[in-house]
Amino acid sequence: MAHEYDVLVIGGGPGGYVAAIRAAQLGFKTACCESNPYADPKGEPRLGGTCLNVGCIPSKALLHTSHLFEEAGHSFAAQGINVGTPKIDVSKMIARKSTIVDQLTGGIKGLFKKNKVTMINGHGAFVGKSDAGWQVKVGEEMVVAKQVIIATGSSPRHLPGIPVDNKIVCDNVGALDIDAVPKKLAVIGAGVIGLEMGSVWRRVGADVTILEAMPDFLAAADQDVAKEALKLFTKQGLKINLGVQIGEVKTSKKGVVVAYKDKDGADHKLEADRLIVSVGRVPNTDGLNAEAVELKITERGMIEVDDHCRTNLPGVWAVGDVVRGPMLAHKAMEEAVMVAELMAGQAGHCNFDTVPWVIYTSPEIAWVGKTEQQLKADGVAYKVGKIPFLANGRALGMGEPSGFVKMLADAKTDRILGVHIIGASASELVSEAVVAMEFAACSEDLARICHAHPTMSEVVHEAALACDKRPLHF
Ligand code: FAD
Ligand code: NAI
Repeated sequence: MAHEYDVLVIGGGPGGYVAAIRAAQLGFKTACCESNPYADPKGEPRLGGTCLNVGCIPSKALLHTSHLFEEAGHSFAAQGINVGTPKIDVSKMIARKSTIVDQLTGGIKGLFKKNKVTMINGHGAFVGKSDAGWQVKVGEEMVVAKQVIIATGSSPRHLPGIPVDNKIVCDNVGALDIDAVPKKLAVIGAGVIGLEMGSVWRRVGADVTILEAMPDFLAAADQDVAKEALKLFTKQGLKINLGVQIGEVKTSKKGVVVAYKDKDGADHKLEADRLIVSVGRVPNTDGLNAEAVELKITERGMIEVDDHCRTNLPGVWAVGDVVRGPMLAHKAMEEAVMVAELMAGQAGHCNFDTVPWVIYTSPEIAWVGKTEQQLKADGVAYKVGKIPFLANGRALGMGEPSGFVKMLADAKTDRILGVHIIGASASELVSEAVVAMEFAACSEDLARICHAHPTMSEVVHEAALACDKRPLHF
């Protein structure tokens, strides 16, 4: 006999678990199925998806530990703290990361209980439609739901001829579990994962070379920020080669040799103990049996949705990495809440123009809104307020003088169009810009708001003042 629900969510990542919780809060009888291979101590699939298991959370835990290690080795002495030469215990670093993952994934199970969401272990695949709703087979169980939210997420893209074993050749899964500091680490792809994971392993002692196909560094970021980041990361010791073409990759039990052509066409061979392949991600639609119900999938393999995450099927929605837009956990969660509220007849809404981006390198990079190059391409007249952290007392006190805040405002209306930050705590500072842009603020609005002293946020304030050429401390 089929189990009946008002709402079935397929996938328990940030898109799925948030959709399930919000739907249950709104009074729907809700179930969420999850089939991931990461089992908890009881052998059940873990909730939390890529983000909690092998993405945002574990990577940030390793970034934190490796940052402290680097500080201890390179910054403590200058502040009068002598600890000698620090040693890294990689197994402890990894174990700490895994404890945090256990804690948070277990926490989502607790949230499901609290909100009365039924968790079903197993892979969900469409079977068809009956009068009672959509029929979805989850493992051996048949579920019928009036509405279905697909939140199946994404998986790492692999390159032909470079098989990933997550021992010598790793994607994000293996990169988060390397058991000893590789002497030499090669990374293919200077995107978000390449930079974050490359930073982790460089800080704890690996000699890291990143090979990037594009001639421009961080093409999606404001190019002022990208230029500064490339300069700082190179100074830290990351070897970043742009415009390369990857050739044959030979692996052995000991390591890997990556053949590539550099930007001038010269041939090179890079030998390394480990290789991380981080060249983007692909949406998870295989195994959903989308054909059975004629669910539309785009040419690029994403589930086709409108701005409200409606698919071509009535009562079937899709959110997160499996649909268009940036593959970010907070974007998935926003869409999830929107869909649940729309299902309940409320006015759900998602503003894709104010989704922030953060890269958790050191210094951090964060932005929201348009880049300068986008405004130029769109022919928008703008003004710029750009202030370095070097002029800020808190930044100096923290030993974090690198980077700047750059604000872009409309030349006529003064409305803030984009804010780009490279510097310590950029991930937190960007929230002020997001709030300002959500409220359609002008640079003058931020310029007239009192900011606590001494804080890094004063640099955001000064950048707003600088849009009107009246900074006070620079
Ligand atoms: P996922 O988190 O991928 O979850 C989908 C879930 O659905 C998975 O658990 C999967 O097992 C399950 N599933 C798939 N198919 C089925 C099926 N048929 N039946 C049942 N279950 C199924 N984003 C940020 O915003 N900030 C960060 O700092 C950040 N860091 C990252 C670091 C790394 C190394 C990686 C890889 C990603 C990072 N991301 C980050 C991206 C973020 O993890 C994703 O955007 C986010 O997890 C997407 O959520 P989702 O729910 O759409 O999909
Ligand atoms: P990415 O899209 O950020 O970067 C991939 C890079 O690989 C690009 O620069 C691309 O030009 C390059 N590339 C592609 N093919 C190549 C080839 N054949 N040879 C050399 N270079 C090649 O993808 P990444 O780093 O894999 O991350 C996937 C996604 O996960 C991100 O786009 C982001 O959405 C999410 N993520 C977010 C984080 C955050 O918010 N801090 C952290 C990590 C991941």
